[in-house]
Amino acid sequence: MADIAFRGVNKIYPNGFQAVHNLDLAIKDGEFLVMVGPSGCGKSTTLRMLAGLEAISSGDLLIDGKRVNDLHPRTRNIAMVFQSYALYPHKTVQGNIEFPLRMAKVPAAEVKARALKVARMLELEPLLQRKPGLLSGGQRQRVAMARALVRDPVAFLMDEPLSNLDAKLRVQMRAEIAALQRRTGTTTVYVTHDQVEAMTMGDRVAVFKDGHLQQADTPQQLFERPLNTFVGSFIGSPSMNLITSRIEPGGDGLTLTLAGERIALGRGLEARFEDPGGAAGLVAQVGLRPEDVVDPHLAGEGQRLHGRVVLTELLGREQMVYLDLHDSTRVVARLHADHRLHAGEEVAIGIDPARLYLFRADGNALSYR
Ligand SMILES: Nc1ncnc2c1ncn2[C@@H]1O[C@H](COP(=O)(O)OP(=O)(O)OP(=O)(O)O)[C@@H](O)[C@H]1O
Ligand SMILES: [Mg+2]
Repeated sequence: MADIAFRGVNKIYPNGFQAVHNLDLAIKDGEFLVMVGPSGCGKSTTLRMLAGLEAISSGDLLIDGKRVNDLHPRTRNIAMVFQSYALYPHKTVQGNIEFPLRMAKVPAAEVKARALKVARMLELEPLLQRKPGLLSGGQRQRVAMARALVRDPVAFLMDEPLSNLDAKLRVQMRAEIAALQRRTGTTTVYVTHDQVEAMTMGDRVAVFKDGHLQQADTPQQLFERPLNTFVGSFIGSPSMNLITSRIEPGGDGLTLTLAGERIALGRGLEARFEDPGGAAGLVAQVGLRPEDVVDPHLAGEGQRLHGRVVLTELLGREQMVYLDLHDSTRVVARLHADHRLHAGEEVAIGIDPARLYLFRADGNALSYR
């Protein structure tokens, strides 16, 4: 069990490339923190610095308040499961789980007891005498996790552990890992580039881009209060629509000029933003989530946009509608499939001002309440 803190941590590789910039991030004891971001954003580098597999160029890494920058990986007692986990094929499941304890010269009776305890927790007990070759992908994954957990580590690190599994098994395993973490209460740092995995598994999610931490927050906060357009569009699927528009005072509250049409915002944004009135006069990026597009019949007066359908995708009860507004801004809407729309059709979509996101031209969100 451990608290972990990165304080102003930088990583510059020997070739001069800076992979992590001034990282400040505290992970609480027992927390499940997910690091997410596109390929190359520095997730693995950060995890490897935590494990002690990669030197920290500057800044401090603290575990339980102690600086561990120069501590050898072994003495940090941190367990790590990688994307490709190599089990020993000639050893049984039990042999695999016991191996790290045998290496550490733990007494034989204790080895057996600890291995059995972890095997039970991961529901591997019936498989203890099998060889890895006779296990499914998910079962092998669990053995790899058991082998990592048996050492009773202070923290458990996982780098895209599910990326080699098929889609169905991934969904099943992500629930299992999350449940297991709750049972053991071991501080866990989990890396993925899949935002759905991040949002469903993490107590908190840290979003990275180009080596910079963008925001670390609960999944709900990230979704409702993204600090910038990157986080706004990275979290959620399909991505938030970002539409450049002018915000002007007008009517009762603000007016938005979007693709040549005027939308009355009224006072709808005041519940979420500290000072939406301060946005008057700005050219801003307005975020509209596909699932927040409203059936135009339900939209209020002055809260409709018009466009032409380019493409629709039917997904059971829903349809994904891609449409071009009058200035050819492409917008994606997730609508009920009751009234199927078709390419070429002229349609109206409704906007609920209370659900819009507002970003300044530089991409940073207006201050939230
Ligand atoms: N040994 C190295 N020397 C120089 N640059 C490196 C080295 N290892 C990684 N990098 C670079 O550092 C950046 C971050 O790499 P990292 O592996 O941490 O990314 P990542 O977020 O884990 O990406 P992915 O999702 O693809 O695994 C990348 O641009 C990568 O090319
Ligand atoms: Mg990686």
